[in-house]
Amino acid sequence: MNVLQEKLMELRRKAFENVESAEDLKNLQDLRVRFLGKKGPITEILKGMGKLSKEERPVIGQLANDVRNAIGNIIDTKKAELEQKLLEKELENEKIDVTLPGRKIRTGSHHLLASVIREVEDLFIGLGFSVAEGPEVEEDYYNFEALNLPKDHPARDMQDSFYITDEILMRTHTSPMQARTLEAHKGKGPVKIICPGKVYRRDTDDATHSHQFMQIEGLCVDKHIRLSDLKGVLTVFAKHIFGEDREIRLRPSFFPFTEPSVEMDISCFRCGGHGCAVCKGTGWIEILGAGMVHPNVLRMSGFDPSVYTGFAFGMGPERIAMLKYGIEDIRHFYTDDIRFLNQFRRA
Ligand code: DAH
Repeated sequence: MNVLQEKLMELRRKAFENVESAEDLKNLQDLRVRFLGKKGPITEILKGMGKLSKEERPVIGQLANDVRNAIGNIIDTKKAELEQKLLEKELENEKIDVTLPGRKIRTGSHHLLASVIREVEDLFIGLGFSVAEGPEVEEDYYNFEALNLPKDHPARDMQDSFYITDEILMRTHTSPMQARTLEAHKGKGPVKIICPGKVYRRDTDDATHSHQFMQIEGLCVDKHIRLSDLKGVLTVFAKHIFGEDREIRLRPSFFPFTEPSVEMDISCFRCGGHGCAVCKGTGWIEILGAGMVHPNVLRMSGFDPSVYTGFAFGMGPERIAMLKYGIEDIRHFYTDDIRFLNQFRRA
């Protein structure tokens, strides 16, 4: 063997050895360049063929090509092997254990107050009412004046207010929607709305008081509306929300925007009227305020009280929920404690 043949055989041996121990594809590519590249030793030998003798040329040429092919083949084989290993590793990493328990999907649900409001809305929609909403930042005119509560009326003290300016305040009740809705109807009935929303009062927060709470207002104005219509609607309401066995009673009361004014009680749903802790031994539970819309209220909002009459009522969804579900602290509604809220999830 001459020097070139020995050199080629040595290159082949070295290349095989290196390829065998190559650890990754980058490594392997470097070897391919090093042994078979344009500046590599085999290319070098092939380039120098011209200088060889006629007898040597085919022998060396043949050997150089064989060595080149052999190195190329072993690199290709090794490459496939490394790629396969890489793939296996990736598959191993991405393996999904189908026997693991699934991750629970957390879903939201209606807040208890939202549920109560919906329930009341649905009932009244079924009775032909529509739902109206109004501003929480309200004009003194709608909150008081248009409801028959002029500037220095003593009954204003019943609702301690957050004033923003002399004429603007946070509404203390949803009743201003009575005046707003009547005004929008320009003296023509019928008007049948219920109006849920937030209201604000200057109260110190405790188990039964909150500076912000909710109300649902009801208003029905048409020709020939009588107190008996109010009584009928409230009876349907009481049975729907608190159970078919409920009876109602109306007690005389006072609100400046209704005449006569009443307070509605329901027969106790816990003891059925015999007297228990829920009804404080009386057999009755106070639920809401109501009455026949005061002629002044109709007149101020453009309705002729000699043609139109109506009834109105106002209730607190917090109170309804507290009674119905035995909730003892009104603050539970506003503090977003998931342990509380989860007890009232609905499908
Ligand atoms: N607005 C009254 C309040 O917040 C509740 C009320 C009483 C509303 C009688 C009415 C009503 O519409 O007729 O105390």
